[in-house]
Amino acid sequence: MPKDIAVVTGASGGIGRATAKLIHQKSEGGLRLALHYNGNQAAAEALRAEIPDSFIVRADLSSEAGRKSLLDAVLAQGAPYVLVNNAGTDRPHEPALMIQETSFDSLVSVNLKGPAFLMRDFGKEMASAGSGVIVNVSSILARKALVGSALYRASKAALEALTLQFAFELGPRGVRVNAVSPGFIETAMTDGIAPEMREKIMAQVALGSFGAPEAVAQAVAHLIENDFANGTVIAVDGGMAL
Ligand SMILES: NC(=O)c1ccc[n+]([C@@H]2O[C@H](COP(=O)([O-])OP(=O)(O)OC[C@H]3O[C@@H](n4cnc5c(N)ncnc54)[C@H](OP(=O)(O)O)[C@@H]3O)[C@@H](O)[C@H]2O)c1
Repeated sequence: MPKDIAVVTGASGGIGRATAKLIHQKSEGGLRLALHYNGNQAAAEALRAEIPDSFIVRADLSSEAGRKSLLDAVLAQGAPYVLVNNAGTDRPHEPALMIQETSFDSLVSVNLKGPAFLMRDFGKEMASAGSGVIVNVSSILARKALVGSALYRASKAALEALTLQFAFELGPRGVRVNAVSPGFIETAMTDGIAPEMREKIMAQVALGSFGAPEAVAQAVAHLIENDFANGTVIAVDGGMAL
């Protein structure tokens, strides 16, 4: 009998890596980890070496073909029980009056279209099995303005709306759908923020710092474990949204 699978998209990145490790640890080997990556094969392979029985899958999730290849690769190994839609991009940073149609298409394809159709396709598998959990990784910027984040904000706000809609429609089929909303977290995504900007951001965080990827992973794990959590968004932002 094959083990059920937990799929973490963007496992080659900071939050995905911490999340995959924690799911493995908490499931005590009960779930097999599918570690998705796009460009950073070295990071995915390093993580695979750390998580026994895991496997890696490369896919560009902004394309239908990429999403299908992830689904097919997972189904070839077993039944998906968990999907963490974590892969995302905050690029390009464009002030509101400078947003470009090409940027809209590329950013929204990764942050919104990808998770939407992965929820549809993995959700179908989970609903047929009568159980499953989906966690989407949103952002504090879904509800807070920062110059340059118009398209990112829109993509994450829409992802939260989709989270609630899927929770409503899949709940009766035994599938729970929730989201986490991280504040500023120390990963490759925030590495390049200039020191002065970091200071400005941290001044808005009640706890006065950026967070660790493990803090987000804990919230994702909570949403996976808590069998009455459905259609909710948990903030992990150090109090930045206050
Ligand atoms: N860091 C923060 O402060 C922060 C705050 C709020 C929300 N978030 C959200 O948290 C999630 C993870 O971000 P992170 O901070 O861990 O950033 P990260 O380290 O840069 O990781 C981003 C991940 O997304 C993957 N990815 C990017 N474009 C992709 C595409 N077209 N197809 C498939 N995968 C793609 C990357 O894959 P490869 O590297 O293999 O190409 C990587 O695994 C994102 O959704 C982000 O929006 C982050």
